[in-house]
Amino acid sequence: MTQTTTPAIFLEALHQEMQQTHYGQEPAELYEPIRYIMSLGGKRMRPLLTLLGAYLFADDWQKAVRPAIAVEVFHNFTLMHDDIMDQAPLRRGQPTVHEKWNHNIAILSGDVMLVNAYELLLNVETDRLKRVLSRFNRTAAEVCEGQQFDMNFESRWDVTEAEYLDMIRLKTSVLLGFALELGGLIAGADEMATNLLYEGGVNIGLGFQLKDDLLDVYGDPAKFGKQVGGDIIANKKTFLLIEALQKANGPLRSELTDWLSRTEFDKAEKVKAVTGIYDQLGIRELTEERINDYFARGLASFRQLPVDPARKALLIDFTEQLIARES
Ligand code: IPE
Ligand code: IPE
Ligand code: MG
Ligand code: MG
Ligand code: MG
Repeated sequence: MTQTTTPAIFLEALHQEMQQTHYGQEPAELYEPIRYIMSLGGKRMRPLLTLLGAYLFADDWQKAVRPAIAVEVFHNFTLMHDDIMDQAPLRRGQPTVHEKWNHNIAILSGDVMLVNAYELLLNVETDRLKRVLSRFNRTAAEVCEGQQFDMNFESRWDVTEAEYLDMIRLKTSVLLGFALELGGLIAGADEMATNLLYEGGVNIGLGFQLKDDLLDVYGDPAKFGKQVGGDIIANKKTFLLIEALQKANGPLRSELTDWLSRTEFDKAEKVKAVTGIYDQLGIRELTEERINDYFARGLASFRQLPVDPARKALLIDFTEQLIARES
């Protein structure tokens, strides 16, 4: 019954399948963290995008469920390693894997999750598998490239907005693009359509990462699930900081660069001071404008898709909800 298909049904299908997904048993230290991070929830946005993408072109979107979970497992692998790199204490409101266990466990569990993701991708039909694997491999390598740029930028002061945008395209956006494209590929969409899905996904991914940067400063700690202010503490070259460095003059600029160069500081004090500088420069509003721009571009790609408008509305509604997210 196509009329009753909603994202809630997709989410339910994902949850049921994830409950039955086996990552491995022994040694427990290797596999328990995988069950832990996967059970902490999260928005499940990427696998939902895969199912929404598949449903645009095929009634039997169910065949995309296991490949969609592959994308979610891959995403959770990147989070496990990202939290080590970012020294993050919290993920989805709970202790991160390297804090709850240790660094080595988080490295190795993450590694085996990547293998699990490939295993789940093997559920793609043979005639499409090579294309899917090739696209996935490219995407996975790009995520690593983006993560390395992110690390490199921590100790640089002269990161440009263009460099930043390229970095987030790699670390975040290409995976959203791939998630949507994967749905289309599984459902037999043609090249024009898979390109629109990918392009749309990349643009909403850019808006999504800008929103993540914004929430890292202005999010409600009770809803955000991560340490608010973590990016400020680590001198992350987020959109907010890059814009602030560009806009700040005189004493405000000295105050900002002084905070950035301190090696010893009270974390809460630094977060408060830098946030205050952002407030004075109107960085929040500027970031919100750019978020809206990128989402608008993504939605424009989706609107061009030559598919049933009712099905497309599901994807468009879901995307619009992401703009207003608080976690
Ligand atoms: C967090 O992704 C990492 C980023 C790319 C910002 P999500 O915000 O999708 O995290 P979960 O999966 O919902 O927890
Ligand atoms: C991470 O970006 C993107 C990936 C995990 C590849 P962030 O470092 O901003 O993500 P969060 O804020 O920790 O979720
Ligand atoms: Mg990071
Ligand atoms: Mg992080
Ligand atoms: Mg972040």
